[in-house]
Amino acid sequence: MEKGKLIYKLKEFHVLEIYQVDFYNSQIKSLEEPRIKKAFERFVIREKEHADFFAQKLKELDSSPSKVISPAFAAAGFITGKALDLLSLKDRYKLGISFENKAVEMYQSFIEMSAKDPQLNELNDYLWHYMIDEEEHQFWFKEQLSKISNSNH
Ligand SMILES: [Fe+2]
Ligand SMILES: [Fe+2]
Repeated sequence: MEKGKLIYKLKEFHVLEIYQVDFYNSQIKSLEEPRIKKAFERFVIREKEHADFFAQKLKELDSSPSKVISPAFAAAGFITGKALDLLSLKDRYKLGISFENKAVEMYQSFIEMSAKDPQLNELNDYLWHYMIDEEEHQFWFKEQLSKISNSNH
């Protein structure tokens, strides 16, 4: 993969991960149930690990993370911060699912791209592992959502 393109992708993923850190972090304070709160705390640790990895890769290429939100992300129209506090638990779960869906999609395409370049073997492994982390988040939200939905019947 051409170096400029690789740097662009790494920056895009760094933004994605920072966005996820903020997304979960901003909700922790307003969560009361320990099981849910601890799950969000755990997600934040994972997303930070992902963000740090992309920052490190950029550093190795003599670049650095960008603060500009990637078009793919802005277009998806996700909200963060105070607006989230006003959401019901059900809506947070739904938002979490669509958010993680978007992340998984982005990982899938980066995995395909990097698989074509033998020099990116190591990066490709990390991308797979991180995508599986995102899928686990997605499954957790789906599970919580189905619990709420079932108890409403
Ligand atoms: Fe992540
Ligand atoms: Fe995630």
